[in-house]
Amino acid sequence: MRVLEINGNYELSGSIRISGAKNASVALIPAAILADEETTICNIPEITDTDALCEILETLNVKVKRASESIIIDPTEMINTDINEIHCKKLRASYYFMGALLGKYKKAVMCFPGGCSIGKRPINLHLKGFESLGATITNHNNQYIVEAEELKGANIYLDFASVGATINIMLAAVKAKGITTIDNAAKEPEIVNIATFLNSMGAKISGAGTSTIKIEGVDYLHGCFHEVIPDRIEAGTYMIIGAMCGKNLKIDNIIPAHLEALTSKLLEIGAHVQIGIDYVIVSKPDKYIPTNIKTSVYPGFPTDLQQPFTVLLTQCEGKSKVEETIWENRFMHIAYLNELGADITVKNQTATVFGPTKLTGTTVVATDLRAGAAMLVAGLAATGVTIITNIDHILRGYEQIVEKLVGVGAKIENKEI
Ligand code: EPU
Repeated sequence: MRVLEINGNYELSGSIRISGAKNASVALIPAAILADEETTICNIPEITDTDALCEILETLNVKVKRASESIIIDPTEMINTDINEIHCKKLRASYYFMGALLGKYKKAVMCFPGGCSIGKRPINLHLKGFESLGATITNHNNQYIVEAEELKGANIYLDFASVGATINIMLAAVKAKGITTIDNAAKEPEIVNIATFLNSMGAKISGAGTSTIKIEGVDYLHGCFHEVIPDRIEAGTYMIIGAMCGKNLKIDNIIPAHLEALTSKLLEIGAHVQIGIDYVIVSKPDKYIPTNIKTSVYPGFPTDLQQPFTVLLTQCEGKSKVEETIWENRFMHIAYLNELGADITVKNQTATVFGPTKLTGTTVVATDLRAGAAMLVAGLAATGVTIITNIDHILRGYEQIVEKLVGVGAKIENKEI
């Protein structure tokens, strides 16, 4: 079994360069098939989630070339085949092929997607959007068949500002006849990055980054060059690590505006944060002040940083509260934090953290990607050795995590035990 072994309680300093955003890349790769020519996307992170999507491209006879941080996707000889269950279940973002294939061929056949078990994660809003565009959806033996004679622009209101549904509907609508409007659209920076990519191919999308997105259908999408935005969640994870054990830890190649909710909470608890144009420098304070966080859609406090941030709250002097409003099952890290020495109780969707508590290394499980990140933050701060199992979850989302941390002084190893 492979594990991450951390010998904790070392001060971390130096610089960490942030990779391209996972949650943008996992939509950009499927989006690339909408073009009728080759596209090049640079700054795609080398993580297992992007590898899994490239495997799907290959099953669709799309040519994929990887050259360090760039990926060249050539769909000119593509064939629209069913995507098998194993590929669909490898990750959540396999569902972006539903919108992309529907948009390009007016037919997609695939299973319910996989991904972290952080809630029920229905896809009803995606399907409702496809239906509004004129698609019919049938489900045979766990397989969705989404097809349309013709896709026609429509006014779509999302009951919740879902990231996945907003992107999937954009993908399906980009070549539809007429104008599609998505109201109560998600506003995450990743959505803007996908819309920019599609527009570089010749799409006509406006309003991405606001709650109303307008898509005027076009007939042809050409090749283009595109760059993935920096990963705000990876950056945020390292900022939290900086606040936990950093001495002038520089988090480089970021867009600070994407991290405002986290930065303001770090300042509130007393961490030292210096903000530059494309970097932040974070140091741990002498004393941490308790605070409350409530996750919410962008630009609110991101749910994906809730789990790592909770670790930081264990060091605050007094009572802090964490309210999770996006995912109903995103407190699986709490039991393991308590095993490391934290004092946290959970009631309904709120965790109450009593601090400060000393953290001492033990064996813990990465139950999902960001729970794994939380274990990592805790292990780096804990005295003694922390062993994290189930590390596949972590490797799905953090590029070169061991190398990046070793580079700033952490004692961490990916090893077989
Ligand atoms: N929802 C529905 N119906 C739908 C779609 C969503 O009820 O059809 C609900 C969900 O159950 C959830 C809420 O709406 O309660 C938010 O879901 P959303 O669709 O916004 O999330 P997602 O697209 O499935 C992406 C990220 C997640 C991140 C969320 C929220 C990707 C691949 N995943 O998920 O990232 O937590 O947005 O920001 O982009 C992660 O990186 O660890 C991760 C889980």
